[in-house]
Amino acid sequence: MRVTLKLATSLDGRIATSSGESRWITGPAAREEVHRLRAIHQAVLVGVETAIADDPELTVRLPGFVGIQPARVVLDSRQRLPSNTRLVHEANRLDTVVVSTTDPNKRLTDAGVTVLKVGQQDGRPDLREALDALSDWLLWKITERLPTALPEYYEGFTPSLLIEGGGQVAASFLKSGLVDAIEWFRAPIVLGDEGRPAVGEFVLNRLADAPRFKRVAVHEVGDDLWERYERL
Ligand SMILES: NC(=O)c1ccc[n+]([C@@H]2O[C@H](COP(=O)([O-])OP(=O)(O)OC[C@H]3O[C@@H](n4cnc5c(N)ncnc54)[C@H](OP(=O)(O)O)[C@@H]3O)[C@@H](O)[C@H]2O)c1
Repeated sequence: MRVTLKLATSLDGRIATSSGESRWITGPAAREEVHRLRAIHQAVLVGVETAIADDPELTVRLPGFVGIQPARVVLDSRQRLPSNTRLVHEANRLDTVVVSTTDPNKRLTDAGVTVLKVGQQDGRPDLREALDALSDWLLWKITERLPTALPEYYEGFTPSLLIEGGGQVAASFLKSGLVDAIEWFRAPIVLGDEGRPAVGEFVLNRLADAPRFKRVAVHEVGDDLWERYERL
């Protein structure tokens, strides 16, 4: 699975105010690019706190877009995702997956949500297992859509995942060394120390242990800057 982390931050790397307000930090041009990024990934993932706080749809909403919508994925150890979220409401129409450490909850599966149960690490889904389970499920989903295609057709195909936050989930993936690329949209505002950080607690003692990336491109998008990084 190729994993890309998308960040939409202030100049000082914050993704929300201390009260949790995050809409909208970046401008319309940057947000449009995010929709394009979603369109080229097989799945888009958020942590359950973002799913609750922002109630996102995680869909591609571009004029004239007729492609397949990415699967919407929530990392949610205990299946706390509320029934009254847009993600659950639309689960019968759009692929919606919860990655959990517990058996599938009927409340979610009856609503059309796929629950992938994986092993745990510190009480939360083990991220490597989560990526493997998600990758298998995405490949199965593709074969379901193209039932007549030969299995060889998919050999070597690597599904891609776009992580859209929040800070805790970004930190977990970075810390595990599972992020292949970063798409960073940076808005010309400052939110201060009490704003929510784009990357949560990390517990890093040595600079040498920090995940390192190489900048591969920089674009101006409206008033914002879009920096693109690949893992070294
Ligand atoms: N500016 C932006 O573009 C942007 C984007 C996204 C979010 N945000 C903002 O970010 C805030 C939410 O971020 P957040 O950091 O509080 O929460 P988060 O990262 O969205 O979600 C964290 C929750 O995910 C669950 N989780 C499951 N597995 C995990 C793992 N391996 N690592 C980390 N978490 C895991 C945990 O709940 P369980 O233990 O119950 O599983 C955890 O409490 C909101 O205010 C939102 O508006 C802004």
